[in-house]
Amino acid sequence: MPARDQSIAAQKPLRVGLCGMGTVGSQVVALFRRNQTLIDNRAGRHVQLTHIASRRTNQKIDGVIIEPDIFAIASNPEIDVCIELIGECTTAFTLLKKAIHHGKHIVTANKALLYAHGDTLFSTCEQKGVSLLYEAAVASAIPIVNILCTSFAANRITRIRGILNGTSNYILSAMSAGKRFDDALTHAKAMGFAEADPSLDIDGLDALHKITLLARLAFGHIAQLPPPTHAESIRSIEAADIACAQEMGYRIKPLASASYDAQGVSLHTYPVLLPTDHPLAHVNDELNIIQVDADGAGSSWYSGYGAGGAPTASAVISDVITLAKERAPLTQSAHFQTKLPLIAETQNNYYVRTTHTPAADKKIATIFNAVGGHKMIGTKTYSVWRLNNIKDLSQIFRNISTHVSCQPVCLRMMD
Ligand SMILES: NC(=O)c1ccc[n+]([C@@H]2O[C@H](COP(=O)([O-])OP(=O)(O)OC[C@H]3O[C@@H](n4cnc5c(N)ncnc54)[C@H](OP(=O)(O)O)[C@@H]3O)[C@@H](O)[C@H]2O)c1
Repeated sequence: MPARDQSIAAQKPLRVGLCGMGTVGSQVVALFRRNQTLIDNRAGRHVQLTHIASRRTNQKIDGVIIEPDIFAIASNPEIDVCIELIGECTTAFTLLKKAIHHGKHIVTANKALLYAHGDTLFSTCEQKGVSLLYEAAVASAIPIVNILCTSFAANRITRIRGILNGTSNYILSAMSAGKRFDDALTHAKAMGFAEADPSLDIDGLDALHKITLLARLAFGHIAQLPPPTHAESIRSIEAADIACAQEMGYRIKPLASASYDAQGVSLHTYPVLLPTDHPLAHVNDELNIIQVDADGAGSSWYSGYGAGGAPTASAVISDVITLAKERAPLTQSAHFQTKLPLIAETQNNYYVRTTHTPAADKKIATIFNAVGGHKMIGTKTYSVWRLNNIKDLSQIFRNISTHVSCQPVCLRMMD
């Protein structure tokens, strides 16, 4: 264990109150216990976890006051930083507004809260002269917020994309290894990679929250939050799709994507077929990966644990150390004047799988020819088609659905 730097005792300690002692909160406590001296040395002063708000009043942690009322942390003048890890929106929003009002810096891992109320919280922080840091909210141990704010500060960023949801990646990886969707989901829950209600994860909304936070940092204020229709689920994917993709040299991955051009910002999350040699196709199981395209730096990739108690706690305490060093920006909101419009995707290539009958195939081929042609990839139990440069698949989808007994599966394809 490293010895404590002599000069640290002379500095005013940073006093930290933790709200929420669940998966992440308990790991924050564990990391403080394990690395306190190292944390203090790197912070240049003692970073002291003084209070924990917990409804479990029987908890005892040496040197820490257990506070049953979460809002008491927000107003306590003995606390400098409020860490919010309670994990829902309504109470967390009220809690943080109160803490900011009382002059506390904020560290949070709550992406759903920042997605819905980020603008209000950031502007309230600016008015009060306090910081709101949220590295843990986007990709846990992958320090993407810091990379965008510091390492890429001189760049114009044009695109960010990647795998931002470990649950979906774990399920699709398990399906690639032969598991059915339901079995893969059950296994993900048993391993702690999926919540009891996994909808936010597997329907793409969690990744949409995260990519929206990154887009705000990289491109600027977005006039409108992306609607839930900008998130597509992985629920429709079956073993047949995984097998077809593998046969064609592709892997199916849950992609989150944000791009920026003169028209505005495009934000989407959906499962996509990626060629097996694509840099984003190699990251499996619960791991995340993020690609940043920037005008100076070019393309770069960052991968690691995007969730889990310990990786998320690591990011939380790193933000607290930044505050202790008094090097934090007032907010990590985007400092841009104009509000960028949200725009639809331009065009995509699609993989379409339909039930195979000669009569249905003939009708579907006619529909596809009318929108610019197709390539038939395979006809076994299913017919598999490739469509290029399609702007809006919804009308085509409705037309072909009338000719087949089961719903077609449509997925974007990238080369
Ligand atoms: N888990 C991850 O891998 C991960 C990764 C990145 C980000 N995050 C984010 O981190 C946050 C926390 O996630 P988590 O997985 O640690 O959640 P969790 O395991 O459900 O823990 C939440 C904790 O907050 C406590 N809590 C909730 N409302 C409270 C209240 N009014 N007063 C006092 N305590 C309250 C709960 O107490 P009770 O036990 O009494 O209910 C529980 O201990 C969420 O915003 C999540 O999105 C999590």
